[in-house]
Amino acid sequence: MRAIVCEAYTGYQDLKLRDVAPPPLRPGCVRIAVKYCCVGFGTSLIVAGRYQRKPPLPFVPGTEVSGVVTEVAPEVSHLAVGDRVAGIIDWGGYAEEAVGTADTVWKIPEAVPFDLACLLPAAYGTPWAALHWRAHLQAGETVLVFGAAGGVGRCAVELARLAGAHVIAVARDEARIQVALEHGAHEGWRSDTPDLGRMLKERHGGRGINVIFDPVGGQCFEHAMKAVAPEGRILVIGFAGGTIPQVPANLLLVKNVAVIGVNLGLYTGWTPGDERQTHAPKMRDMINQLSALVAQGQLRPAPPTAFSLEHTVDAFDALVERRHTGRMLIRVSDQP
Ligand SMILES: NC(=O)c1ccc[n+]([C@@H]2O[C@H](COP(=O)([O-])OP(=O)(O)OC[C@H]3O[C@@H](n4cnc5c(N)ncnc54)[C@H](OP(=O)(O)O)[C@@H]3O)[C@@H](O)[C@H]2O)c1
Repeated sequence: MRAIVCEAYTGYQDLKLRDVAPPPLRPGCVRIAVKYCCVGFGTSLIVAGRYQRKPPLPFVPGTEVSGVVTEVAPEVSHLAVGDRVAGIIDWGGYAEEAVGTADTVWKIPEAVPFDLACLLPAAYGTPWAALHWRAHLQAGETVLVFGAAGGVGRCAVELARLAGAHVIAVARDEARIQVALEHGAHEGWRSDTPDLGRMLKERHGGRGINVIFDPVGGQCFEHAMKAVAPEGRILVIGFAGGTIPQVPANLLLVKNVAVIGVNLGLYTGWTPGDERQTHAPKMRDMINQLSALVAQGQLRPAPPTAFSLEHTVDAFDALVERRHTGRMLIRVSDQP
C-alpha cells in the first residue's frame, strides 16, 4: 500500500511516500480503508520526536482518520465490514490502510461526509472535552478562544457558540478574525492588541471572562490571567506559540480561578495507563452528538483544505507557516 513513512525523528520535511506492507490486524482492532487523515500540530511534534509519545521507527504517522471498515477482529462486535467510520488511532493514518482499536473507532452516519467525519474525534473532540467535560460551560457565559482560526481553535468557537456562550475570538490578523466570525464568534480581536487581557476584562463588565480556551500559551496565557473573571476557568490546551506558561498560584487564589489541563489523549488511550476502554462510552456519546449536529446542519464548518498523500510535506509547511485556517486534511483515497 502507499503510505507516508517517518524513518527518523528529524521532522516532517523528511517524511517519505513509500510502498509498504499493510499493517497486521491486531486483536480488538479493525482495518480501515482510509479516506482522510488530519494534519495537526501534534503530528508535526511526533515526527520530530518532540511529543510525549514516540512510536517505534520506522512508522506511518497520522492519528485522526475517516474511511470504511474492511476487516474486523473476532472480538469486535460493534463494528462491521462496510461501516463508515471515524477514528483516533495510535499512528498509521497516512496510508491506504490503517489499523485501530475498535474502542476509538466510531460509526458515522451517511449524512456526515468523510472530510467532516475526520474532524469529529479530535479537532472537535478536544474543544468538546474542554468546554463541556472540563469547564462545564453554561449558556450565557463568555468564552475567549485564542488561536481562533486554527485547527482546534476554530472548532472551539463553533462549539462555544452552539452551547449558547458569547464568543470572543483572538487571532493574528483581520482575515483570520473574519474566519472566526464566520464560524460563530460574536467579536474578534488581533492577538497584538495592546494590553489585550486587561482590555477584554474591562469590556466585559470589568469582571472578565468566564471560560478561556488556550491552545497557544506564552503571552496568550498571560492575557488569559488578566482577562479571566472570578470563578473563571482557563483551559490549557497546547503551546502552539512555543512557550509553556508558568502559573502564578497566588493569583489563582486571589481570583478564585481554575487553570484546567485538557489532554484528549486521556480518553483515547494515549496516556501511560491506557484508559481508552474506560472512556469509550463517553467518547462514543460525544461522537454521536457531534455527528447529529453535522447531520442537522447546526455544525457547518467551511470545507477543510485537503492535500493529496504526495503533498503531505506541503500540508505541514502550510501548518507551521500558519497559512491555514481550520484543520487541514490529507486525502488518501479519491474513491467515493
Ligand atoms: N490538549 C489536547 O488534547 C490537544 C488536542 C489537539 C491539539 N492540541 C494542541 O493545541 C495546539 C493547537 O493545535 P492545532 O492543531 O489547532 O494547531 P494550529 O491549527 O496550528 O493552530 C494553532 C494556532 O495558534 C496560533 N499561534 C500563535 N502563535 C503561534 C506560533 N508561534 N506558531 C504556531 N501557531 C501559533 C495560530 O493562530 P494565529 O496565526 O492566528 O495566531 C494558529 O492558528 C497545539 O499545541 C496542539 O498540540 C492539544
